[in-house]
Amino acid sequence: MIERIGTGAEMAIPLLQAVQGEFRYIPIEAIEYIAANTEMSETKLYGVATFYSQFRLEPVGEKIIRVCHGTACHVAGADGVTETFEKRLGVKDGETTADGKYTLESVACLGCCSLAPVVAVDDEISAKVDRTAAAELIEKLEGGA
Ligand code: FES
Repeated sequence: MIERIGTGAEMAIPLLQAVQGEFRYIPIEAIEYIAANTEMSETKLYGVATFYSQFRLEPVGEKIIRVCHGTACHVAGADGVTETFEKRLGVKDGETTADGKYTLESVACLGCCSLAPVVAVDDEISAKVDRTAAAELIEKLEGGA
């Protein structure tokens, strides 16, 4: 990746994006490796990785369940949707299940407010998700429906 992208300080974001594209998060070892092999320091790389919300420093589940908590979705009941996922998956918002299958997270507006409340499983959008639909979504993901 470093050979392909480059070693200059302006390459911090493309390099971190490439690492995350490969591992789905940015392992600390990758930051150490980039720092050792480019003009960037660990501190700078870590600073960039923590500044931009697109970057993750923790491993994520095989699937990421994102519950929109933008205004429209919040008003339409996003809290109940997150609560249902928390109960079904046995995790709190922002956590990954112990089996590494799912990461649950709240996000800001996903850009399709007329479908509120909206849930995205990876890139697949589900519209008008209430508590029942959230429970069904988990069943479907588990192959039970
Ligand atoms: S507020 Fe949820 S999609 Fe816009």
